[in-house]
Amino acid sequence: MYKTKIQKIDLKKNLKKQLQKAADLILEGQVVAFPTETVYGLGANALDKQAVENIFIAKNRPSDNPLIVHISDVKQLNLICKNISSKAKILIKEFWPGALTLILNKKKVVPDIVSANRNTVGVRMPSNKIALALIKLSNCPIAAPSANSFGKPSPTCAKYVYDDMNTRIPLILDGGSCDVGIESTIIDMTQKVPVLLRPGRITKEEIEKKIGVIKLHSSIINPEQKVKDALAPGMKYKHYSPNAKVYLFVGEDRIKSINSKIKKLKNKKNIGVILSSKNSLVGEKVDFVNYKTQKQFAKNIFKKFRDYDKVGKKIILVEGYDSDGFGMSIMNRLGKAATKIFN
Ligand code: TXA
Ligand code: MG
Repeated sequence: MYKTKIQKIDLKKNLKKQLQKAADLILEGQVVAFPTETVYGLGANALDKQAVENIFIAKNRPSDNPLIVHISDVKQLNLICKNISSKAKILIKEFWPGALTLILNKKKVVPDIVSANRNTVGVRMPSNKIALALIKLSNCPIAAPSANSFGKPSPTCAKYVYDDMNTRIPLILDGGSCDVGIESTIIDMTQKVPVLLRPGRITKEEIEKKIGVIKLHSSIINPEQKVKDALAPGMKYKHYSPNAKVYLFVGEDRIKSINSKIKKLKNKKNIGVILSSKNSLVGEKVDFVNYKTQKQFAKNIFKKFRDYDKVGKKIILVEGYDSDGFGMSIMNRLGKAATKIFN
C-alpha cells in the first residue's frame, strides 16, 4: 500500500528538477504514472523484469497482454529492436514523436514479461514534453500501459489515474488533460504487408500516404467482436467500459433512434447522452453534451464516461460516427465500450 502522491508539473519551470524524484523511483524499480499526448501511462523501467511485474500488479492486467515501450531517442530504439524495415523507418521519420506505436522485432534485452513472450515489441516515442523528459532523465526505455485499472476507460487526466491507482503506486505526475484523449495507433511492421491493430489519431489514410497499402486487423473491421488472435493479444478483452451501460447509435436515423430510446426509458435522471454532430439535439429533458468536432469528441469521450459514472448515470447513449479517417478510431473505442449497438 502506498500513500499515492499527485505532483503537479509546471512546463514553464525546470523539468529536470521537477522530475528527479519520479526518475529516481523508476530507477528503483517502482511504477510512476505520467502524462502522454494520448492518455496517461503507468510506467516502469522496461529493461527491469521485476519493475515491469509491478505494473501488471498495480493494474490487475492479465500477463498475456504485452506492453508498449516508450523511448525518447532513436538510440534506445536500436537497443531494444532489430531488423527494422524500411517502411518502419519511414513511419518513424514521419510520425515520431507522436501517437504511433510500431510493433517491431525485439532484442533479447527486453524481458519476456514486457512482450508477453512474443518475439516482437510495441515501441513509441511520445511527443508529450513531460513524458520525453522523464524517459531521458531515467535514462531507460519505459514500459507503460494506459494508467486505468484493467477494463476501465483510459485516464486522460491525473485525477482519473488517482481514482484507479490510489494506494497502488507511489507517484502520479500531473501534466493536465491529454491532447488526443484516445490511445495511440498501433501498426504491426513485422508482417509482409503491415497490419493496423488499433486505429488512433494517426489514421490509416495518413499511413498509407507514406508507405502504401496496409491491412486492417479483423478486430477493427468488427469492433464489437472480442476476437482472439495471435497478432492482437489485447483485442480479446473487454475495454474502455464505464460502470454505466453504453448504448451506441449508428446509421442515418441515429438521432431519431436516440430520441425514441429516451422516450422508452423510465428514469430520465439515470440517462446521459453524448452527441457527435453539429446540429444534433435531444428532444427530451435529459443530461447531454455535444462535441462538435472529432478532435473534441476524442479528447473528451473517456472523461465523459467517467464523469457520468461519478454522478450515478446508469445508461449512456452515444451518437456514433461514420467509420472513416479519425472517425474509425473513435468508433473502434465506442464499439468496444458499447453494451449494445443500435443500427
Ligand atoms: O497511447 C498509448 O498507446 C498508451 C500510452 C500510455 O502510450 N498506451 C496504451 O497501452 O494504450 P495499453 O497497454 O493500454 O495498450 C497497448 C496495446 C494492447 O492492446 C497490447 O495488446 C498491444 O498494445 N501490444 C503491445 N505489444 C504488442 C505486441 N508485441 N504485439 C501486438 N500487440 C501488442
Ligand atoms: Mg489500455
